[in-house]
This record gives sequence, structure tokens and C-alpha cells, in this order.
Amino acid sequence: MHRIAAIGGDGIGPEIVAEGKKVLDAAGDRFGFSIEWTDFDIGAERFLRSGELLTEGDLSGLSQFKAIYFGAIGDERVKPGILEKGILLALRFNFDQYVNLRPIRLLNGVQTPLASKSPEDIDFIVVRENTEDFYVGIGSRFHGRERKVLEVFRELYSVKFGLDVESDAEEIAYQIGVVTREGSRRVIDYAFERANARRKKLTSVDKANVLSEVYGLWRDVFRECSAGFPDVATEFSYVDAVTMWFVKNPESFDVVVTPNMFGDIITDLGAMIQGGLGLAPGGNINPRGTSMFEPIHGSAPKYRGLGIANPMATIWAGSLLLDHLGEHEAADAVLKGIEASILDGVVTKDMGGCSGTADVGDWIARKIRDKEV
Ligand code: IPM
Ligand code: MN
Repeated sequence: MHRIAAIGGDGIGPEIVAEGKKVLDAAGDRFGFSIEWTDFDIGAERFLRSGELLTEGDLSGLSQFKAIYFGAIGDERVKPGILEKGILLALRFNFDQYVNLRPIRLLNGVQTPLASKSPEDIDFIVVRENTEDFYVGIGSRFHGRERKVLEVFRELYSVKFGLDVESDAEEIAYQIGVVTREGSRRVIDYAFERANARRKKLTSVDKANVLSEVYGLWRDVFRECSAGFPDVATEFSYVDAVTMWFVKNPESFDVVVTPNMFGDIITDLGAMIQGGLGLAPGGNINPRGTSMFEPIHGSAPKYRGLGIANPMATIWAGSLLLDHLGEHEAADAVLKGIEASILDGVVTKDMGGCSGTADVGDWIARKIRDKEV
């Protein structure tokens, strides 16, 4: 038996997680395990009711689980950033989920905007660092009257740019990216292990030509890690160039490892080349702790409760979750179930079909239970 925590969250979150649970339960029936679900009431509704984002009780409760199944967070009644930082990022940080695993794979039957590419060409994984870089939240914003800090910046600005920031009315904001040796090593090692078990190629993404302190360290660590994996071919790619290669030669990638913020950006591009955000899952992984699996799209509040949201990214995230729990056959069947429903045209409106959210979940669950995939 597996015990899994579930957080539906906001907007379409609860609906799509409900479909994911159905499909995972069906996979359990078929492959001989059962799932005990524990739901957590975390999200905008509770925040608006009680002011609570993530409580000590939530954290200690969730820490009892190896896996969390997560829907989406974000609500039009709450200022952008509050729920994202206070819930989603807080979970990733608190549980030290240092790997953000995002497969970029074009399933059979899915349209990609890349005209000449097929499923053989688009099949790689992005390993995004998930706890450091520009996500650490160090920075501030201040006016000229805060003399002491301004002194530092005045010097910097006049030396580097010849700018005069004398006036008290001047306002400055800054935010710092942090990369540590240990933080890079653990995620880069993870990426090497994945590459070693796949087609043995690892691409490192950075911007070491400009942000040379943080990504200079990242590169040093990458080189050191590569010594432990002599069979894995490696390359460095600047983030601007990598966006070009994702579009031009996606077949050249096997595993891509990237600092946090660039990983955020390039995986939205990845989502598009694999058929859109409706088909893009992610896993926030702490190999020795509590991991969390989610669609990478948001809560789409305007579709809440209409029964038309596409549950496929969430169901696919469920496949990643099962894989993480060691249920590899079941994980594979879930992915095959998604593929079969696409080939059969059982898809939601965003993918050109007319099925509802629950139709898709029911259909995939049945296919799996009936051993038709
Ligand atoms: C993602 C999202 C989050 C991120 C936001 C909602 C905080 O864009 O999971 O990619 O930036 O990581
Ligand atoms: Mn993102």
C-alpha cells in the first residue's frame, strides 16, 4: 500500500487532481497495490478565510509522506506572488525538493508546432535546480534616504555606469542569485545519473559569459561531477542559445540540467514543443524526503468548476509519482493510457476535442483497469 498526500489547491486544481487519483487508483488495481489518499486543505480559500498559507501543522503532516500529489495554486482575489511564494515555493523549499524534473516528450498523436518534428525527435528531460539561484528571495527595494545602502550603490553605479544617483528621490531595487557548491553538486549529480541511464548525454545550461560568479561556480561543479560519469557526453550551452536549439534540434538533447530561473523559462518553451501546457508535468524531488508532483500549468481560475479543464498534465504527473514510488510498470501504463486517449480523440477542448475533464479521467482509468494499454 502507498500513502499519498493530495493538495487540490485553487482554480481547476481540485478537478484535475480528482481525475489523477482515479487513474492512479486504477493503476493500483491492475498492478497490485492500493493507495491511501490524505487530502490537505491548502490554498486560496483557506488563506482568505483564515490568513494561513502553510502552517506548521501542514508541514509536519505532509512530512509523513513520501509523495504529494499537487494540483495548482493561484487565485484572482489574491495579489500575485502571495500564494505562489507562500505555498508552492514554500513547499519546494521546506522539503528541500532540489530537483525539478520536467520531461519534454512528444506523445504519439500530439501536434507540435515544430513542423518537421515527430515523437522520435522530441524526447528529453530537463532537470531544473529547485532551491537556489534567483529564487532564494534575497533583495530589497529602497529610496535614497536609506543612506547606508545607497552609498554602496552610488559607488557601484558611478564607477560602472558613470551614473549619478545623488537625488533622494532615486529608488533602487536589487535581487541576488545564490549558487552553492553543495546545491549545484547534488542536482548535477542527479542529472548525470539520469543521463547515464538514458542516452548518455548531458547539456548544462547557464549564462556564464555574463553572470560569471554564480554560473562560473556552476560550471566548475559540472566539470567535477562529469569525472564520475566518463560514459556521459557533456556540453555547455548558454541559455539564450538553448532556446534556439530546443526549437531547431530538439533531437540533440537527452538530459538538460539548468539553474532554477533559466529552468523555469525553458520548460515553458519545452511544454509548447511537446504540445502545450495541457501536457506538461513536473516532479519536485527530494530523493530522501518528501517529493511533490504537479502539472506545470497554473490554476486557470476562469475554467474552475466548468468540467472542461484538461487533466492530462496532472495524470502524467501521477505517472511520474508512481515511477518515484518504484511502480514503474504502473507509471508506464498511465502514460500509455494518456497516449491512447489522445489517439482515440478522447481529449478536452484545448486539444481540439469535446470531452470533459471527467470523461478523460474515466476513459484512461478504464483502459488501464481493462488491460487495454
Ligand atoms: C513553475 C511556476 C513557478 C516557478 C511559480 C508559480 C512560482 O512558474 O512551476 O514553473 O516559477 O517555479
Ligand atoms: Mn514556470
